[in-house]
Amino acid sequence: TERSVQVKLVLLGEAAVGKSSIVLRFVSNEFQANKEPTIGAAFLTQKCRLEDRVLRYEIWDTAGQERFHSLAPMYYRNAQAAVVVYDVTKASSLEKAKTWVKELQRQANPNIVIALAGNKIDLVTPSASSSSSTTAESEDEADDATATPGETATSGEPESLRQVPRDEAEAYAQEAGLLFFETSAKTGDGVVEIFTEIAKKIPID
Ligand code: GTP
Ligand code: MG
Repeated sequence: TERSVQVKLVLLGEAAVGKSSIVLRFVSNEFQANKEPTIGAAFLTQKCRLEDRVLRYEIWDTAGQERFHSLAPMYYRNAQAAVVVYDVTKASSLEKAKTWVKELQRQANPNIVIALAGNKIDLVTPSASSSSSTTAESEDEADDATATPGETATSGEPESLRQVPRDEAEAYAQEAGLLFFETSAKTGDGVVEIFTEIAKKIPID
């Protein structure tokens, strides 16, 4: 017979990095361009099917605004999983993410599975639709974006919005023992993967 487990998961990260948008994409496969800031926290559930079992995520989507920081322990206490989100176009949001990881590693369940997600990757990944708004050669753009994500743009290309090189964030995640993803709540890239990879790490029983 099929096993089903409930998994309490919390999202943490600086305001406006896209926590609620990631949850909306995962739960409803939707995106809102002008999503309002979360007040306190929001609660949503979503099933996640693996080959051998089904998990039911109980998701606490916390508010990133600083005035809500003191509420966070209520939501990460007893959580089996956490998704710490930053915005790839905002370097300071990775620093904030690191402070959340430290707080979780000190205060949360010692077995908590933590994923780091660099969101808004659509703003730094050239696509057919975004290149139509520029005069740059899209072929060169695409090559550079995949081959040298950490380098600054060379002459003739639009300046990249990326402030956090993938390599740098991924190296930090590995060192800190975190799963790592780059995501776009807008396009859906990488979003389901966060939840399925976490699910695989949740022990059965
Ligand atoms: P708080 O609730 O205040 O902590 O913010 P949040 O982290 O929940 O951010 P939210 O999901 O509300 O998104 C903030 C803004 O960024 C909204 O206008 C979203 O539409 C936008 N946004 C979220 N994710 C993405 C993304 O992947 N790409 C782009 N381009 N915009 C995004
Ligand atoms: Mg929110």
